[in-house]
Amino acid sequence: MLRILLLVSLSIAFAVEEDEFFFFGHEYKRTELGDAVDKASMRLLKDLYESSEDKNVITSPLGVLTLLSLYSTGTTGKIKEEIVNFLGLPDYKKMTESYKSLTEKFTEMNPEFLTMANKVYVASRYELTDEFTAVATRDYHSEVQALNFTNPSEAAKIINEWADQKTRGNIKNPVDENTFSPDTAAALFNIIFFQGHWHVPFEKADTVDKKFQLSATESVQKPTMHLVQSLFYHEDKELGARMVELPYKEPGFRMVVVLPDAMDGLPAVLDKLAQKGVLEDVFAMSPPGQDVDIDMPKFEVKSKFNLKDVLVKEGVSSIFNQQAEGIVKGQGVEVSEVFQEAFVKVDEEGATAGAFTGLVLVATSSLSEPPPPLPFKVDRPFLYAILHQDTVLFAGTYTH
Ligand SMILES: *[C@@H]1O[C@H](CO)[C@@H](O)[C@H](O)[C@H]1NC(C)=O
Repeated sequence: MLRILLLVSLSIAFAVEEDEFFFFGHEYKRTELGDAVDKASMRLLKDLYESSEDKNVITSPLGVLTLLSLYSTGTTGKIKEEIVNFLGLPDYKKMTESYKSLTEKFTEMNPEFLTMANKVYVASRYELTDEFTAVATRDYHSEVQALNFTNPSEAAKIINEWADQKTRGNIKNPVDENTFSPDTAAALFNIIFFQGHWHVPFEKADTVDKKFQLSATESVQKPTMHLVQSLFYHEDKELGARMVELPYKEPGFRMVVVLPDAMDGLPAVLDKLAQKGVLEDVFAMSPPGQDVDIDMPKFEVKSKFNLKDVLVKEGVSSIFNQQAEGIVKGQGVEVSEVFQEAFVKVDEEGATAGAFTGLVLVATSSLSEPPPPLPFKVDRPFLYAILHQDTVLFAGTYTH
């Protein structure tokens, strides 16, 4: 098991307004939205960790949560209820307002260090409903573009160019021609890209190979960065972990590193964080009264997930089998694919991380084609009636 659980803690950025004091402390406000994103994020991370073979996992749950909240605006009933529950806000209104302000905040940040972008593609033969177009463009700052999904490889090429450009070449081919089919009615995408510089960089000259435990008994050598610095710190005995915060120069951003006490303690720590979130501990951090002597491997991780099973496990299943009627004009749709590709690079200077999340919507058969004509062959003895309004004027039978 890996010893380090790494959180590129975007939740932290909810407090960006208070940037003046960001280095000195936790004048950040804890918000209902921050807590909701935290808990959903920890649950997703745990699920992805458990289902991943590799166990080096990087994900941006926020990308998934944002697209689900956008999708929910075109749904009703059970679909909407499941999404609201999973996103963990008290009701639908609160949820949409929260994601609206969150999207506003992140899409308007300095693209030098943070890009958030949403995009809705609609198949050329369909149109989005006016309502969904308004919500997507106004509340989710999303571009809306028509795309010919009947030519899946051309569609994939256009989407990949967008991903490449928004992630500055870090995510090049998140989709391919198999992602789409002629049944694809629309697709919703989210990109989050972060490029941060440590407030105090590690010295390159101090990076040397050091032992990294793969399990209680197995170890390897990893290039390990080193720094002695006054950092925020916290120990949580009940969680079975200690944590430090590495602030970035970019106001409001920080990385929190959670180190399990036991060499093979990560699964147990993930279990606990999936229940209570990580923010409680983050907000309990303080200067420990002494410098922190930190050794941390530099690393790069790429992950690619199909999120369908994980979402079903988290109680979001109706999106896959019940139709949403408020997204495409005159056409029910359901979600056929949810996926994410993400990466992180951590080195002496800082961290770069990005995620591309997609939700592919297919036309459901009930609305997609006009139903075939119903056969009605009058080829046997029958009854008939002639009416005026609700009054039967004549009635008869015909038998030969
Ligand atoms: C979409 O692509 C298909 C397949 O390449 C092509 O036959 C069709 O004409 C295109 N439709 C539009 C509206 O461009």
